[in-house]
Amino acid sequence: MELYIYPTSRKKLFTNREHLRSEIKISLNQLEKGRGKHLCFCGLRKIGKTELLKYSLSEQILSSQVIYLDLEEAGLTPEAFVKYYYCMIGYWILTKGQVSPQKYHNVNFVIQEAIKNNETTIANTGLALNTELEKINIDQRYILELVFGLLESVAIEKNSFAVVFIDEFQEILQLNNFRQIKNIIALFRANLQKQNRTRYIIAGSATRILENIICDASSPIFGHFTLRHIEPFTKEDTFEFTDKLIKRLTDMEKYMVYKLTGGHPYYIYSLCNRLEIMLERYGRMEEMVKKAFVFEVCSKEGDINMHCNYVFSISLAQARGYASLRTILLELAQEDGLKLSQISRKVQRGTGEILTYLNNLINVDLLIKRDKKYYFKDQVLRYWLLKFRLGIEPMLPTDRIMNELVSELEEKYQRIATELGVAKQSEIQDVEEINITLE
Ligand SMILES: Nc1ncnc2c1ncn2[C@@H]1O[C@H](COP(=O)(O)OP(=O)(O)O)[C@@H](O)[C@H]1O
Ligand SMILES: [Mg+2]
Repeated sequence: MELYIYPTSRKKLFTNREHLRSEIKISLNQLEKGRGKHLCFCGLRKIGKTELLKYSLSEQILSSQVIYLDLEEAGLTPEAFVKYYYCMIGYWILTKGQVSPQKYHNVNFVIQEAIKNNETTIANTGLALNTELEKINIDQRYILELVFGLLESVAIEKNSFAVVFIDEFQEILQLNNFRQIKNIIALFRANLQKQNRTRYIIAGSATRILENIICDASSPIFGHFTLRHIEPFTKEDTFEFTDKLIKRLTDMEKYMVYKLTGGHPYYIYSLCNRLEIMLERYGRMEEMVKKAFVFEVCSKEGDINMHCNYVFSISLAQARGYASLRTILLELAQEDGLKLSQISRKVQRGTGEILTYLNNLINVDLLIKRDKKYYFKDQVLRYWLLKFRLGIEPMLPTDRIMNELVSELEEKYQRIATELGVAKQSEIQDVEEINITLE
């Protein structure tokens, strides 16, 4: 059975995560026995959270009532959130995820489809929701309770179980900004506690925030969820994934892929795409993996560059004190693993102030602390920063060099290709020689 949001071609690329998948399975088996905890997965951006959720969604779709919500897609006023939640329940129950969800983003459409398919509970909830939404003073808590409880009712009716996958869960906190809601997690908990047939499997990128929601004793859902961190791929996983993406690499080259990407699945994916293009255009060349990596990190066209840029700017936007934070990061980009006192000396600020900044950087997932020393969590991001150490604007010269390099390379390739009919690898390599210093 092919899911619209997770086609078979993509599912085939899915690699490992055996351990986490078995935890999901165990948790679902326990649900049937009335035991077990809900699950929460957290990890860096693009480390594979969504992939894991969608993969296990595709494994569960036939046996239980399964829905998938992406809170980065949902509106985050109570009304918009409730409509999204309701519509997605309708979509997943009525279609089992087989068609495009587009039409289902409309409450009235879902109600009609539910009536056609004799899903009376879904239809009636939709009607109740519409009635409330038409009022001038909407009871926001009431509509939230309507949707939070709906899937459990469906599961009871069908004498089955329900699994709710919620991606980027931390976004739900936006609802705290509304006066009637105040504490959305408490409201969520109140509903969760009434449910015996529903398992929540949630994920999110904001590690610190999720840790606070899940593991802090003062959180309303403390003790209800097990938190698991999603780590980069091991060397073996990297080899397996690389093999699926690109056939022609030697073991040494695969090892380079692993070393350069640190096993981060999205970096592996982008690097292999770039390698495929290079292989197609220029054939094999010396130090091919390194060159593809530098291109990915440094060129405007590089997916890794775009990703680093995105992560860097949104992470700093979330933390306060942009200028100081950037200075600290630049110091650490040059020398990872410094102590508080060392950083404070380099940046010429008191340790108290620096400590606050460092904690901010840990909170937004840029740094980690080990044995009193601070490190970049993502070494590729560190390398990227090192390349553009003066920020966005001075990025242009480097970019220009890279672009020239590429266009020169292409020109040369064109010339050789037309003059000789075949590309001479040695000449291309000369042009493409890039000086990189990676540890
Ligand atoms: N287990 C995996 N198997 C194969 N590819 C993966 C896996 N995890 C992640 N990827 C690759 O990395 C990309 C980003 O993963 P994604 O799950 O979207 O990250 P996140 O949700 O953590 O931001 C995916 O599009 C996919 O190409
Ligand atoms: Mg995701």
